[in-house]
Amino acid sequence: MEVIFSGIQPSGIPTIGNYIGAMKQFVDLQKEYKCYFCIVDEHAITVPQDRLKLREQILQLAALYLAVGIDPNQADIFIQSEVAAHAEAAWIVQCNTSLGELERMTQFKDKSQKQVSVNAGLLTYPPLMVADIILYNTNLVPVGEDQKQHLELTRDFVERFNSRYAGKNQEILTVPEVKIPEKNSGGRIMSLQEPTKKMSKSDDNAKGYISMLDEPKVIAKKIRSAVTDSSGIIEYNPEEKPGISNLLVIFSSVTDYSIEELALKYKDSGYAEFKSDLAEAVVTWIEPIHERYNHYLNSEELHEILDNGALEAQKVANKTLQRMKNAVGLGRKP
Ligand code: AMP
Ligand code: TRP
Repeated sequence: MEVIFSGIQPSGIPTIGNYIGAMKQFVDLQKEYKCYFCIVDEHAITVPQDRLKLREQILQLAALYLAVGIDPNQADIFIQSEVAAHAEAAWIVQCNTSLGELERMTQFKDKSQKQVSVNAGLLTYPPLMVADIILYNTNLVPVGEDQKQHLELTRDFVERFNSRYAGKNQEILTVPEVKIPEKNSGGRIMSLQEPTKKMSKSDDNAKGYISMLDEPKVIAKKIRSAVTDSSGIIEYNPEEKPGISNLLVIFSSVTDYSIEELALKYKDSGYAEFKSDLAEAVVTWIEPIHERYNHYLNSEELHEILDNGALEAQKVANKTLQRMKNAVGLGRKP
């Protein structure tokens, strides 16, 4: 069975963008692949975090994974820092990656501009992500559009590592493929306030995103105040009408309607009616998720699932780590 790995940072409550870009794919793919879904807390500390809040967000993300429909009988859910192999493998990856490659990463450039002082972990964030992926012999990585460059770096790393350390026609590490939703199916959900910018859970303006834990009233208010345009026509045209196009993508992602069907349905409607129906659709979809979330959060079951996930992950990760150590000549041969 082919393997899937993906991760989300517990750096805030996931947004509907994280759901549509990443989690929704996780749920769809779990039946066909051996899946590892990780809570990447070591990535989260590449920028300052409040320690108690981080702990809380780790469990919230775990409960959300389950609430959106990830089935612990089909997929392993675990916390990155509970599998020591990630940080160890990341060191080997760093020692086989050039500084220039890391400095070129657009996420590093964006994030480092926003920090008063940039720590080294922000630069070596991608090698840790490479480690996450390769440890599980991953074939496929479902992520949003913003992670494309990191996945290219991962593929380059694996090819380089194999050619440097493996014999002819041998493979130490597996080259992963990336899986990004099509643009009109949510690879990049935009901010509700600035629809040319990515929706992000770390946005200072909470009106820009819908959090997966926002109350129905808040959701309706945020959708009502979403920035659109003055033409009054509901159509999918991301270049000229980014606001409405983004709302169409969100609408179709939480219902069974395609974007074309929605555009046809609302062709004679005003923005107010469209937004009010969208709010209703989002709330109808999210309410059962909230119920399941409340069931899992603070439950014994959640801790059992995470304990078991870490154990299962360690088994596979430690084997790959040992192969990597052997390849570069660390320690004594087992
Ligand atoms: P992060 O919150 O940065 O850990 O992202 C977790 C996952 O959600 C990654 O696969 C991202 O690519 C995806 N993601 C984050 N923001 C968005 C967005 N606005 N639209 C689509 N996917 C997103
Ligand atoms: N960098 C990813 C993000 O910000 C999160 C992540 C960490 C990840 N490790 C990963 C995603 C491994 C996929 C696979 O969205």
